[in-house]
Amino acid sequence: MEPELEIIKFLKANPGRCVSGQAISRSLGISRSAVWKHITSLRKTGYRIEGYPKKGYAIVGGQSPPFNPLEISSILSTDIIGKKIHFFPSIGSTSAKAMELARGNAPEGTVVIADAQEKGRGRLERVWLSPAGVNLYTSIILRPPVPPQKAMALTLLSAVSVAESVGAFVPADISLKWPNDVLLAGKKVAGILTEMSSEVDRVNFAVIGIGVNVNMDMAKAPPDLRRIATSIMEKKGVETPRAAFASTLYYNLEKWYKRFIEEGALPVISAWRRLFPGEGKPVRVRGITESCGICLGIDNDGALLVRNKSGVVERVTSGDVE
Ligand code: BTN
Repeated sequence: MEPELEIIKFLKANPGRCVSGQAISRSLGISRSAVWKHITSLRKTGYRIEGYPKKGYAIVGGQSPPFNPLEISSILSTDIIGKKIHFFPSIGSTSAKAMELARGNAPEGTVVIADAQEKGRGRLERVWLSPAGVNLYTSIILRPPVPPQKAMALTLLSAVSVAESVGAFVPADISLKWPNDVLLAGKKVAGILTEMSSEVDRVNFAVIGIGVNVNMDMAKAPPDLRRIATSIMEKKGVETPRAAFASTLYYNLEKWYKRFIEEGALPVISAWRRLFPGEGKPVRVRGITESCGICLGIDNDGALLVRNKSGVVERVTSGDVE
C-alpha cells in the first residue's frame, strides 16, 4: 500500500485522537521526516490534518472528505473493482479513456474517474452534461468470460447496482427505466453506457460508463434537463460525499458482477424486474424500428417484450422507451 494511503487510514482509524509521528513512522517503516512530507502532501490534496508539537497528528473531524483517488481507496471494500484508479480533474470522456486503457490490456476492475468531462457521452450519440465539482463520472473495465449475446446482463446489473447505491444515500422512490436509466422520484438521476469489444464467441472487454447526478444543483441546470432529470441532492437536501458514493457503487457493482459470473443472468434479471414499474403499462420504443403496445417486462436475456395492437409480442433489444 502506498504510504499516503496507509497514513490516511491510520489517522481515520483514530478519530479525534492524536497519532504520534513516531507511531506512524514505526508502523510504515519510514523516517519521521518522510511522515511529515507525506502529511504535507496529504494536506495539499484537501485533507485537514492538524499537527500538535510533541503529540503528533490528528485528522480534523467534521470536514467534508475530499474527492480524490486516495479517499476512495481509503474506504473501498472490494477485491477487483477500483483496485486501480485513474483519476482526472478533467477529461474528454472517462469511457473513451477506459476503452483506450482496456485495449492496452489494463486489468479487469480498473476504473477511470473524472471530476469533469468535456465530451461526456450518453447513449444514442447524446451529450452527458458533466460539470465539475458535483457529480460522479466513472467508467469501469470488465472482462467477463461470456459470449457477447449474454452481455446485456452487464447493463442490467450495472443499473441494479447504481439503484442500490442511490438508495443507500437517499432512501426514496428509486426505479429503473429500460434498459439503463435510474430514476429517483420518476426523474433520471443516473445513466449507464455500456461499450464493448468482442469476437463472435467471446467478449474481450466491456466498459461500463456511469454518470450519477450526485450534488448537482438542479435549479442551475438547463430547463430542458430540469424537466426530466434530478440529483441525489435535490431529493435529499444535503450534499453526499462523492468518494463515499463511488466506493459504495464499486462495492455493489462487484457484488452483482460476481453473482452474474457465478450464477448467470437470472438473479440479475429478477433484481432488475423488482425495480421496474413499467410492466403492464403502455409503452413506445423508438429505435431502428418502432414498437408500440403494452409492456410485458423483460425476458431472460434482458430484451424488452412489447405486445402490439395485433397481439404479437415483439422482442426489443435497443431503443429509447417512452
Ligand atoms: C445515458 O443515459 O445516455 C448514458 C450516460 C452515461 C454517462 C457516463 S458519465 C461517465 C461515462 N463517460 C462518458 O462519456 N459517458 C459515461
